Amino acid sequence: MVKYNRLYDDLAYLWPWVSVPEDYAEEASYWRAALRAKLGPGRHTLLELGVGGGNNLSHLSREFQATAVDLSEGMMAHSRQLNPEVDHFVGDMRSVRLGRTFKAVIIHDAIDYLLAEDDLRATFKTAAAHLEAGGILVIAPDWYRETFPDPYVSHSTTVKDGIELTFIEYEYDPDPSDTTVETVMLYMIREGGKLRIEEDHHINGIFPLQTWIDLMQAEGFSVEKFPYPVHQDGHEAYLLVGTLG
Ligand SMILES: C[S@@+](CC[C@H](N)C(=O)[O-])C[C@H]1O[C@@H](n2cnc3c(N)ncnc32)[C@H](O)[C@@H]1O
Repeated sequence: MVKYNRLYDDLAYLWPWVSVPEDYAEEASYWRAALRAKLGPGRHTLLELGVGGGNNLSHLSREFQATAVDLSEGMMAHSRQLNPEVDHFVGDMRSVRLGRTFKAVIIHDAIDYLLAEDDLRATFKTAAAHLEAGGILVIAPDWYRETFPDPYVSHSTTVKDGIELTFIEYEYDPDPSDTTVETVMLYMIREGGKLRIEEDHHINGIFPLQTWIDLMQAEGFSVEKFPYPVHQDGHEAYLLVGTLG
């Protein structure tokens, strides 16, 4: 039977082998630049939806007053360690309401888990509900429909604390007529001289750039594109920065 999102469930303990904060240092410099360009200096309040292991946030959480939300307790356990000063809450970015407002809401690659236009609308409503007037929403879909290099393949091997993990990702689009793509993840886990192989599937959303912009505008955001040159193959990427009101 195919199992989904194991990386955020029974395999969440492997996250530090899949990804480490240093991998995010360059990306985080673009997030910081966008936040500073819009908000100016100061220790502004910030809410990250879909914080995951908190790697990206770890580059921002000392200079902003951050709060974090994610669906997965297992992933947030890693973020809590990296970002001890941040309050973490379990919640779904499409529906969570913390009853507080912030200067900025940010959604990093967790936004790739929105699969339909209604999910985007609901998430932009969540962002608007958590922003002060003039506050900003910053998002970074990994791929737009126009930039997705079908297939996208990556792999890494990481050894630490007695575990060697070789992690392989294969992302492809089984049906270009819908708004989703699939990622197959393979984990070759070598521990105590034994090799174990685990398989995991993730479904992610894929939308044209203009759809993101239109739906943000429909929820009251004026949208700007900020540079985000993160794809090694040169595919264009942008931070989408929406200002409320
Ligand atoms: C790739 S991880 C994020 C990693 C993170 N950018 C970091 O720097 O560590 C994606 C996260 O999105 C979360 N997620 C997916 N759908 C969500 C939703 N609807 N609401 C909140 N979190 C969600 C998953 O639980 C997972 O922790």
